Amino acid sequence: MPIGITALGTYAPTRVLTNKDLEGMFDTSDEWIVSRTGIRERHLSGEGEFASDMGVRAVNDLLARYPGVLDGVDLVVCATSSPDAYFPSTAALIAGQVGLNGAGALDVSVACSGFVYALSVAQGMLLAGTARKALVLGAEVLSKIVDWTDRSTCILFGDGAGAAVVEEVPEGYGFQSFVLGADSVGGPSLYKFAVADRIPGVPVGEGNMMLGMNGREVFKFAVRVLSDSGEKAMNKAGLKGSDIDWMVPHQANVRIIESACQRFGVSMDKTVVNLDRYGNTSTASVPLALREALDDGRIQDGDQLLLVAFGGGLSWGAGAMKWYGGAGKRAAAQEQESDQELVVQ
Ligand SMILES: CC(C)(COP(=O)(O)OP(=O)(O)OC[C@H]1O[C@@H](n2cnc3c(N)ncnc32)[C@H](O)[C@@H]1OP(=O)(O)O)[C@@H](O)C(=O)NCCC(=O)NCCS
Repeated sequence: MPIGITALGTYAPTRVLTNKDLEGMFDTSDEWIVSRTGIRERHLSGEGEFASDMGVRAVNDLLARYPGVLDGVDLVVCATSSPDAYFPSTAALIAGQVGLNGAGALDVSVACSGFVYALSVAQGMLLAGTARKALVLGAEVLSKIVDWTDRSTCILFGDGAGAAVVEEVPEGYGFQSFVLGADSVGGPSLYKFAVADRIPGVPVGEGNMMLGMNGREVFKFAVRVLSDSGEKAMNKAGLKGSDIDWMVPHQANVRIIESACQRFGVSMDKTVVNLDRYGNTSTASVPLALREALDDGRIQDGDQLLLVAFGGGLSWGAGAMKWYGGAGKRAAAQEQESDQELVVQ
């Protein structure tokens, strides 16, 4: 039974923080940030807004695009690096607010690789018969866990969310392969403490409670795993670079994406990049990029996609899929029909 994404909604807060704004906060420049990362601005949540709020708004967008699409959802999986609480899970909080109280709900904690992991978790649970239809989210308020006095990390991150419906799709569509991995030896390169003020490899007392990162190490790791895991996901699905219509990578740094593309022979013209306007939104980055490429018509029904992500753990996740646009077309047709009915009335 092929499983795939049938609907996708996203949200980014309206408040925008530009590189120019950052120039007024500490010693940095638009030129430094753009040349090192490609990022020009990011969206920031308000004071009382958290990951579950981002997620609920992404679901509202989903419902506006595909009315009734949550009917039958019996599983909510939320990937997040900045959960509202240890428990209740962010997934349960979102479920409660979007009319899915009672559905199975769990968070997936794999930092920025989380959305790809969560898709694969949902696919596994659907294939096992544990659930029939899943809502998969990536929801983040990274701006609330970065140290705003650390100019080498805080410039990178932004807030937002994506919400996808995952269910059975027609033959020939949907997920073809997933490759997941993690390597805790690299853990000290990107971390965020929780209960224990202790992570193997991070000298005791060196970290504060905000996100810690060794940018150079993460950069080298990211270039390597983006291409390696992407290659493995393609091989597993029997694909080669020339089969890929669109690569949708985690949006961390345009130089990482360019180097990875060069390594495994997917052209930048076939790669979706929107980090210039969002920064790194962790688990929300892949759905935000995917939605943008659907909205502007780059990604079409039947396109061969490759999703690749990496993040804290260190972790990585890649997935090949044939995009199923059928549900979107149905929703658009329904909308047209109801518009016509309104005109007739
Ligand atoms: C963070 C990153 C942009 C830093 O770029 P870099 O070329 O490695 O820069 P470095 O950290 O070596 O710093 C170079 C210099 O710029 C300075 N610098 C750091 N941040 C700066 C900023 N925002 N503005 C101006 N100067 C800055 C450093 O202090 C250093 O100065 P020094 O040479 O006088 O010591 C880059 O390493 C990166 O993007 N890594 C990947 C991070 C990532 O993607 N993380 C999330 C993964 S999910």
